[in-house]
Amino acid sequence: MCGIVGYIGTEDSKEILLRGLEKLEYRGYDSAGIAVVNNEGVHVFKEKGRIAELRQAVDNSVVAPAGIGHTRWATHGVPSQENAHPHQSTSGRFTLVHNGVIENYAILKREYLQDVTFKSETDTEVIVQLIEKIAAEGFNVVASDAMAMLQVTDQYVELMDKETVIVTKEGVTIKTLDGEVVERAPYTAELDASDIEKGTYPHYMLKEIDEQPLVVRKIIQEYQNENNELHIDADILGAMDEADRIYIVACGTSYHAGLVGKQFIETWAKVPVEVHVASEFSYNMPLLSEKPLFIFISQSGETADSRAVLVQIKELGYKALTITNVPGSTLSRESDYTLLLHAGPEIAVASTKAYTAQLAVLSILAAVTAKTRGIELEFDLVQELAIVANTMEVLCDDKEEMESIALQFLATTRNAFFIGRSVDYYVGLEGALKLKEISYIQAEGFAGGELKHGTIALIENNTPIIALATQEHVNLSIRGNVKEVVARGANPCIISMKGLETEEDRYVIPKVHETLSPLAAVIPLQLISYYAALHRDCDVDKPRNLAKSVTVE
Ligand code: M6R
Repeated sequence: MCGIVGYIGTEDSKEILLRGLEKLEYRGYDSAGIAVVNNEGVHVFKEKGRIAELRQAVDNSVVAPAGIGHTRWATHGVPSQENAHPHQSTSGRFTLVHNGVIENYAILKREYLQDVTFKSETDTEVIVQLIEKIAAEGFNVVASDAMAMLQVTDQYVELMDKETVIVTKEGVTIKTLDGEVVERAPYTAELDASDIEKGTYPHYMLKEIDEQPLVVRKIIQEYQNENNELHIDADILGAMDEADRIYIVACGTSYHAGLVGKQFIETWAKVPVEVHVASEFSYNMPLLSEKPLFIFISQSGETADSRAVLVQIKELGYKALTITNVPGSTLSRESDYTLLLHAGPEIAVASTKAYTAQLAVLSILAAVTAKTRGIELEFDLVQELAIVANTMEVLCDDKEEMESIALQFLATTRNAFFIGRSVDYYVGLEGALKLKEISYIQAEGFAGGELKHGTIALIENNTPIIALATQEHVNLSIRGNVKEVVARGANPCIISMKGLETEEDRYVIPKVHETLSPLAAVIPLQLISYYAALHRDCDVDKPRNLAKSVTVE
């Protein structure tokens, strides 16, 4: 019941609103009102009875280009001019029309609005008064992560090392340890509260796996200029071009992304790259080249091990680029340049969409750097990434098959090995990490050719071997490695790519550009890990002993 209209434009709104209300009069006709706004302020006209009566009450000398209107069918409070909408807060700052019933209006009134003098008996006035109260109340919050307080604010001020903050209801004062006041403008957290909800998904991890096609499409958009060409900030390209060697530093999944990133940068942009585990680098710094550029990859941007390296190399005077999902994170702030992942908040401890986002951004960085260096690629990366996104969708839709693979190979096993060659080896490392961290199966990734140098001794009857075969130039070799383990009793699960498949393969990924195959090939591994953990009754989103953001050394 009740009807609502609104208008904003260049014409006078009164007549448009009144005509609209006439059309809605069938929804309620015990009273009606309009509120229009112009440079002088808000003008409210309301009347008991029909729209015709309201027309009489409207002051035609008021001209206003915006307004709202309401025709009422009484629920809370008798039909009267006072109870007609729009309702205004005491100061007149807020004006509201409303359809429906505020079921807890009495509780809200009792708990929060005892000092307010109400003009009507309606539930609606409670809301407009409450809005005024909250808006005027003044509050500040503190949080380790903006997402914790998104329900109350999107305005945040960062606190740096060696600073203290005094927080009161009225304000925030930041000081250095020497007592000097620091002026710092707040930033707007560009997070959508719905991004941090699970929605209808049983786990964040599954939701985040499913988000990957969208994330890749978003990244393509974010990194395109107005001519739809891939674009990276000129300063970053300058730094990439000047560098005689790139040092990628990261941990865990981000380290695995770095390994694939090395492949992109070396193959396309022809710049040598070393990839280092941050916790090793800081105590065992390799001999650096003359003009190094450091790339830190970190979903959270807060990982202590990576930050320790960043501090070290900054002291040495080197430049750093951080690739992160979190704008304003420590690594981003303290680096010279940042490339954002645009993946949306990743809540599950097991990283999924951040990994593929890291790969997508690294591929763009590599391709644009190649172009700056005068190297023409034989393919269109935007097109190839779009194919990847579509393929990801197909893979995400194949959950039943992934679950059956998990049940066939991983339901009861104590260990599992992932093998691959070239970039498949790197994807295997990531697959093994995913599986071990959430299902507690001892899973390890190996280069196919390394098995015979020791690891093959671990193969027993039925040991699951997940082998990736997406790379043409090593297809025969990896299949040879599979034969070697099968001869020793292993249970092989070969995941290949269309065009390279054989009858023995358990799953075939649709064809994507070979160098980009990690973006697609990782999805079956993520889903298989998810279902293995689920069937083993593990806490998928919060695996034991882990934390999402590792801020200690
Ligand atoms: O936030 P970061 O990317 O720096 O985190 C690095 C690792 O702690 C992280 O990738 C970890 O390995 C994940 N839990 C793996 O799923």
